[in-house]
Amino acid sequence: MCGIVGIVRKRSGVAEDLVKSLKKLEYRGYDSAGIAVMSDGKIEVVKGVGTIDSVVGGIEIRDGPVGIGHTRWATHGGVSPENAHPHTSCHGEVAVVHNGTLDDFEDMRRELITKGHELRSETDTEVVAHLIEENLKSGDGPLSAFVNTIRKLKGSYAIVSMISGERALFLARNKSPLVIGLGEDGNYCASDVAALLHLTNRFIFMEDGEIALLTPSSVEIWKLEGGKMEKVDRRAEEVDWSPQLLDKGSFEHFMLKEIHEQPHILKKIAESIDYYTRFSERLDSLLRSGSLTIVAAGTSYHAGLIGKYLLSKLAGIRSEVIIASEFPEWSSHLREGDVVLAISQSGETADVLEAVRIAKSRGSKVVSIVNVPGSTLTRMSDESVFIQAGPEVGVAATKTFSAQVAVLYVISSLISGRSGISDELAGVSELLRNSMGDLEGFSKEMSDLLKDKEHVFFLGRGINYPTALEGALKLKEISYIHAEGYPAGEYKHGPLALIEEGTPAVVMVPVNEELRKKAVYNIMEVRSRGAFTITIQPKGVEVPTDASLEVDVEDELLSPLIYTVPLQLIAYYTAVSLGRNPDKPRNLAKSVTVE
Ligand code: G6P
Repeated sequence: MCGIVGIVRKRSGVAEDLVKSLKKLEYRGYDSAGIAVMSDGKIEVVKGVGTIDSVVGGIEIRDGPVGIGHTRWATHGGVSPENAHPHTSCHGEVAVVHNGTLDDFEDMRRELITKGHELRSETDTEVVAHLIEENLKSGDGPLSAFVNTIRKLKGSYAIVSMISGERALFLARNKSPLVIGLGEDGNYCASDVAALLHLTNRFIFMEDGEIALLTPSSVEIWKLEGGKMEKVDRRAEEVDWSPQLLDKGSFEHFMLKEIHEQPHILKKIAESIDYYTRFSERLDSLLRSGSLTIVAAGTSYHAGLIGKYLLSKLAGIRSEVIIASEFPEWSSHLREGDVVLAISQSGETADVLEAVRIAKSRGSKVVSIVNVPGSTLTRMSDESVFIQAGPEVGVAATKTFSAQVAVLYVISSLISGRSGISDELAGVSELLRNSMGDLEGFSKEMSDLLKDKEHVFFLGRGINYPTALEGALKLKEISYIHAEGYPAGEYKHGPLALIEEGTPAVVMVPVNEELRKKAVYNIMEVRSRGAFTITIQPKGVEVPTDASLEVDVEDELLSPLIYTVPLQLIAYYTAVSLGRNPDKPRNLAKSVTVE
């Protein structure tokens, strides 16, 4: 995965900003890091194993006007100082950072070695620096040397390169994200918008197959097609995310801050019904000519399941939901005129993008619900809508799940012609704001109980079956306790065998009386086998349980927005009491750009 950044300025001084950007990109990987800075025409590299802070800490860097940086999640080659980026050519005249994976690089590597190049790492990236050097040697100017190198590459890449003596950055993008930021005193580029918010809020989003040349006062973009280079004229877009959103403020972790932002985000969505109307109308009209398939991964997949429920209940629309990594195998029936709704926080998840490519190749229309502006998914879609949740830093998705569910609620309601949506969502926002203290207190208490358990089950019915899946995912990803979400009624067909004395089962109690009766029966089933039940339930209803959190919920369809918050908090406090860092769970990354 990896995060990359580049800065080219009129004045000297890029190191500090490179490091700031890399810290914002650590969600993409942080097993090694490095920067290259050009001063007096010479490139100097500082890199090593660990986070960027640990790598540059205490090192005196000779600063200059051009620099690139990288934070790595190892794919080709293990975690070692040699494999950390930036990579340089034999004589250190070319430095390169790369996000993605290159195909057939072994052949190029062998060829370069035959030509006398000394390669110092096991990475695919290093060949790029040597290829540029080789082209320079054969007489190419800096831009041609870069372009002729990119022409040889296959695979996925966002590449930023600098060349000794050139106050410029050379960029190329294919299937890995790369955005250009426009500033007053220079220009920037990075894997995402959030990494550059401390420098600018004006961006140009590069597309696949494009290369760019940045100088302190100019940005030129070309599309590479075969032997041709076609100039691209693209307008800059303003992104209304403030850099403060990337600050933890008084919260101990981003995850906790992001959980607390939810009432505010729901209010924002409640106030934007007009914004969602166009998208809903387009989706509604597209659905006249074909079926609807929802595709998403991780937490977004759970939102997709809730979306399927809402579209069916509210608008009578039939859909199916396919997990993104399984899409290629399960979508053979897709045809022209069908509609694929892709849901993704980042808009960069490789499995989701691959699903979208397949859908497009079959002539299906693609619409998407996304959080990150300018992300690849928005560019690939026929129509996109934003969930307006602001940047999410914690690896475990929290506020973006609620925002996805709220937007799906709005869209389903708009298609069905219901009114009063804004007041309903504003009501949920208010309720959450007022009850945050109680939710916190209950969740802390429960985490005390859960932290020593090996297994925890989450059960839900109807619309809260996906909520149960999400509750289990949150707990396992950040606390590393095994957790499983299940439809409460299905539990007796197998998992019930796992219940022992004291096994915790967290149950979402339905608002609807008929459904609740069934859930109560399921609660009795697990309790009689020794389970310790924790219920999250509507105020004032009688439920046999060991511990309960009563919330003021009246509408089943809005209940996931309320029930999810204590589940997130339970996961958070359990992880914290076990000494885990909930913002950076082991082995996981926020944006998974490999299939
Ligand atoms: C990763 C993240 C999850 C996220 C999933 C899908 O696994 O850790 O939090 O839900 O990717 O990401 P997307 O950006 O497509 O919603």
